[in-house]
This record gives sequence, structure tokens and C-alpha cells, in this order.
Amino acid sequence: MLSRAENEMLCRTGPGTPMGELFRRFWMPALLMTDLPEPGCEPVRLKVLGENLVAFRDTDGKVGVLERHCPHRLADMWFGRNENAGLACAYHGWKFDVDGNCMEMPTETAESSYKHKVRMVSYPTQEYGGVVWVYMGPSEQQPELPQMEWCRVPDDQRVVRSWLQDSNYMQATEGEIDSAHISFNHRWMNMDAMPAAQRTPQRLLPDGRPMRVLDSAPRLTVKETDYGFTYGSRREVGEGQYYWRVTQFLLPFYSMIPGPSRSAGSGRCWVPVDDEHNMVFQYQASADGPMSEQQRVRASASPENLTRQHHELKDGTIIDCWRPQRQRGNDYLIDRRMQKFDNYTGIASGREQDMAMTDGMGPIPQRWREHLGTTDIAIITARKILLRLARELQGGKEPFAPHHGDTYRVRPIDIVSDEADFVKLYDKHADLAMAKV
Ligand code: FES
Ligand SMILES: [Fe+2]
Repeated sequence: MLSRAENEMLCRTGPGTPMGELFRRFWMPALLMTDLPEPGCEPVRLKVLGENLVAFRDTDGKVGVLERHCPHRLADMWFGRNENAGLACAYHGWKFDVDGNCMEMPTETAESSYKHKVRMVSYPTQEYGGVVWVYMGPSEQQPELPQMEWCRVPDDQRVVRSWLQDSNYMQATEGEIDSAHISFNHRWMNMDAMPAAQRTPQRLLPDGRPMRVLDSAPRLTVKETDYGFTYGSRREVGEGQYYWRVTQFLLPFYSMIPGPSRSAGSGRCWVPVDDEHNMVFQYQASADGPMSEQQRVRASASPENLTRQHHELKDGTIIDCWRPQRQRGNDYLIDRRMQKFDNYTGIASGREQDMAMTDGMGPIPQRWREHLGTTDIAIITARKILLRLARELQGGKEPFAPHHGDTYRVRPIDIVSDEADFVKLYDKHADLAMAKV
């Protein structure tokens, strides 16, 4: 349980907030590289940490992320012309390059030096792992990119997608470090009814049931690390054997998900759009060579039917984003018959099952009303670490992880073992937890 004040500190990430300042110490995923498919293409409207931005790939192929509104009279730069190495405002033609310099100010005389005095806010970007990353913090603190394996593999060994969700980033992140929910929220009683593309390989008991449903009260052990923490969830599967899922939470908002056949793993990034929306970046990657067509189809199975949309946020801001067909506005197309006979939620695919739970808490949950249990220990730890780092930064202490990209070179583990102790298990299988790429 958090106090109201702690909940506020955890969830608010706009400019000047303690958590917003902490997140501004990290490179953050902002959009997919394919959202800016070619030089001179259409710009993209986005919002990150409560700031309205426009991204564009100029005619030379360079990517810029600028403030949304033109410094002249605040027209929306998304309407601008992407021409000759800059974005020209469609109102009076002031034109800016990817670094925010004013290249042309055609409404002033040729001799005027005014254009040298006007700049747009521009944030550094990098293209990495199929994603355009942005850094929104002080230039003297510019960090390293996190060396996560899914970012380092060649492009044909990764599938990355993004979509907008209707909640604060934190409950979405918490859903990923909540090993207990998979036994319920993602349970299929009637495996025959499960859409084929969603049948990801998982560890099965001799009778064909997935191991993760057998013991619905996994024992969790958390171990803090430089990148955040790792935790083991242990389920008893009989005859002195334990099914272990070893998962990471990586600062500031990344999760890794173990699975028996995902060599470089899968996982998600939960980037705050504003305090009531988050942008998910979901990856699946293979360190062992190009992904097969079947793996790609599976990696794209959930959510289903993502479409690119013009989307109006609650405050009236327009952004361009991917949205799933099943969403809050249509109750995720819940089917009560399916819920009775086939799966636990009546919602057809995994990501929407998660979304119904996390969006349904309300845009910012009232965490002071919670009753946390023993399976919530990883969630408690994530909150504690984020709050601690935000407070430390307020006191002038810079976080460690942003400047140590190599600390992110880890993997989740999915294993059956007779080892009952997490620390011993982790030591025994330390090689499995290390990235290979
Ligand atoms: S408002 Fe952009 S040039 Fe005038
Ligand atoms: Fe889930």
C-alpha cells in the first residue's frame, strides 16, 4: 500500500515532477522506426512524459523530435512541409532542422538576424532495435543506450510493435511483474478454443496442462540488481520438482518475459504518454538466427488487428498511434459464453486480457486502497526502487543504470529444477540469465 503522496510521486511524470525528472535521465522508446518509413515522409504526432512533440525523418533521412508547436504563433508543426532537410511550418513558412535550428524565416527581411535567435525545443534521437529512442534530459547527463539483447540482434531476428493503452504507465508495468496473474487472467480451460497463433510454447505437465496453472500461489523471491531487480517465482509441479520463472524489471519501465523457446526473450516497454496513457513497445527476438514466418505470426498475434490511428487524448491533444481492435471503448469485445466454457476472462487474446485488468483500475489507481498479498512482492519492490531513485535524484544523486548500458545484458529464465532456493538456483544457472548477443 502506498500513501496518496507516494502514489502521486510514482505516477506523475510531466516536466518538473520527481519521477518525470528520473525518467528524463534515460533514453526512452518514442516510436517505431517504421512509423517514419522513408526520407521526407509524413511527420508523426506524439506525446512523451506529458510533452507534445512531433517526429519527422527529413529528406536526408535524419530523424528529429521537436516540440509540437511552432515558436512563431504556435501552429501545429505536424501540418508542416517536410522539405529540403527541414520541417517548414505550414502557417508562415518558418523552417526548422532536426536539431531545432531555424533554417528559414521568410516573413522577415533577408538581412534580419531574428532567425538566429529563435529555436525549437529539440530532443536527441537514436535509431536502435527497430525503435526511435529519445532523450529528454539535461545534455550534460546524456546516458548510454540500454544494451538489451532484443535491440542488439539483427533486424530479421526481431519483431517489435507498439500500441497505446488507456492507463498510467505504472499499473501496466506492474502487470508484467505479477507472476500470479497468469494462472487466472491468461488461463484457457478449453485449449481447443484458443486461437492457434496464440499458442506459444509453454511447459506442460504430463497430462497436457500448462505448469503455470497448477500452483496458483507461486513463491516469489526478489533480488535487487544494478538494472532494477530480478525475481524468481516458484511453482510446485510434484515429485520434488519446481517450475521456476525468473523475470527482470529493468529501469525505468522494462519487463522481460521468460518462455522455453524464446532465446533472446520477449518483453515490453511501458512509456508514459501522459499521466493517463502509456505507449507499449512489445518485442520478441531470437538470438539464434532469423525468425521463422511462424514465429513472426506468433509475435504479432496479440493484440490482434492493430491499426494506425489519429487519436484524441482526454486533454484534446492529437497523437498518431497504433490501437488494438479490442479496447476499453468496446469492453475488449468480452464474450461471456467464452468466459463460461473456454477461458477465464472471455477476452480472446492475451494482451487485451491484461489491458482489461490494468485499464479497468482507472487512469491512476488509488493504491492507498489496495490489500497486497505475498505474490505482490515484486510490485512492491519496483515501487520502492522507483520512489527511492526519484528522491535520490531530488537530493542531487544521479541514477547508476542510465550510464551503464551493459548492465541490461540479461535474459529471463524458464526452467524446471529440483532446486527450491532462488539464490542457489540463480547461481547454478547464471549463464542462462546472461545475454548471448
Ligand atoms: S505559426 Fe509557424 S510560421 Fe507562423
Ligand atoms: Fe499478463
